Amino acid sequence: MPNATISGWGKCLPPAVLSNHDLELLVETSDDWITTRTGIKERRISHVEVSDLARVASLHALAAAGKTPADLDLIVMGTCTGDSLIPSTAAILQAKLEAWNAAAFDLNAACSGFVYSLVVANNMIKAGAYRTVLVIGAEKLHFHIDFTDRSTCVLFGDGAGAVIMEATDDDVGVLSSELGMDGSAAAILSIPRDGTEGSRDYPKPRESRFEMDGPELFRRAVVRMGEASARVIEEAGLTLDQIDLLIPHQANVRIIDATARRLGLDSAKVFVNIGSYGNTSAATIPVALTEALEQGRIKPGDNVVFTAFGAGLSWGAAVVRWGDRVEPISTSDAELPPNTLSTMELLEPNLEFFGRPTKAATGEEAQPEPKELAREISS
Ligand code: ACO
Repeated sequence: MPNATISGWGKCLPPAVLSNHDLELLVETSDDWITTRTGIKERRISHVEVSDLARVASLHALAAAGKTPADLDLIVMGTCTGDSLIPSTAAILQAKLEAWNAAAFDLNAACSGFVYSLVVANNMIKAGAYRTVLVIGAEKLHFHIDFTDRSTCVLFGDGAGAVIMEATDDDVGVLSSELGMDGSAAAILSIPRDGTEGSRDYPKPRESRFEMDGPELFRRAVVRMGEASARVIEEAGLTLDQIDLLIPHQANVRIIDATARRLGLDSAKVFVNIGSYGNTSAATIPVALTEALEQGRIKPGDNVVFTAFGAGLSWGAAVVRWGDRVEPISTSDAELPPNTLSTMELLEPNLEFFGRPTKAATGEEAQPEPKELAREISS
């Protein structure tokens, strides 16, 4: 039975930056509160679609693996904010990459989407069904963000990361893994009515934004990620001191610190980049993995643990033994089309739909919410 090694890696972060100071203009918050409560300093706002972010990350990953799109036989696209309901974002991406030999599907496990996709790809390769798989985590979360809700709007950002997984006979790749779900607690984090249970009327702002119980998510994330990591390390036949790096989902630096403490892992062995990007859901781990490699944090033969937690409530963990190459075989000059809009201009559709800054945040009178107003007048 073959193993599945990670042979290529890449990321794509859109250029527009939304800083904590920018958010001070939108809601009653402060750089100090956001930094101390979450570790986030800034996040990115995408001017393109998820498939565009994914395309650039994928081309970098393919170059790093020394492969072309024609070499792919499967694309697994971890996302909960795809371009469209039909077709899948994986289908759109396949066309943008011209990866005509690849089957392709989306996988929605929210913030656990990359770990879920990695484990699915690993098992497909181990079963002998596929040999060269593109695994992606990509999101355009800001589309769903109500920038009048300070409890959610400070947390999330957009971005994409990708890896190439290849069949190998070497003793490397995913050593052990766990996926889990507690659907009974789904209401703790949801965008409740954007599916068929929603209204056929024009979507209502309060029903198509993030609903979140932050402190409850915090508590459950620490327990699930800590326990799942401990189990996969044990299942791999490893002890904690044999783990070289933990790359956790980047949701809140306090969640990451508490997870590492619960696991008993030295913080020097934990990769954190949440300050620059916020929570990009399925994208956090492949982006962090790419940056860990760029920074020389992974050496040949290292044991790396991925763990994630998110809406569902879903969780996952995997131990990966790295192969003997930590440098890309080649590089790609793929990049996004230029962005001509300011960050605030990119947020304009959200402010139009969900509402504008209130007097509390700006000292100015609240602006009318045109669509709400129009609906009230017509009803
Ligand atoms: N700025 C200023 N004050 C704020 C803000 C803000 N942006 N947001 C909330 N507050 C206020 C609250 O209103 C509350 O005020 P009150 O005491 O007067 O009622 C106070 O700050 C404390 O609020 P808490 O919710 O208790 O703060 P907490 O320390 O739990 O931090 C946070 C909130 C950051 C949301 C945290 O609970 C968290 O990160 N949870 C996980 C959420 C998450 O990551 N969700 C993403 C998906 S799930 C996943 O990826 C793991």
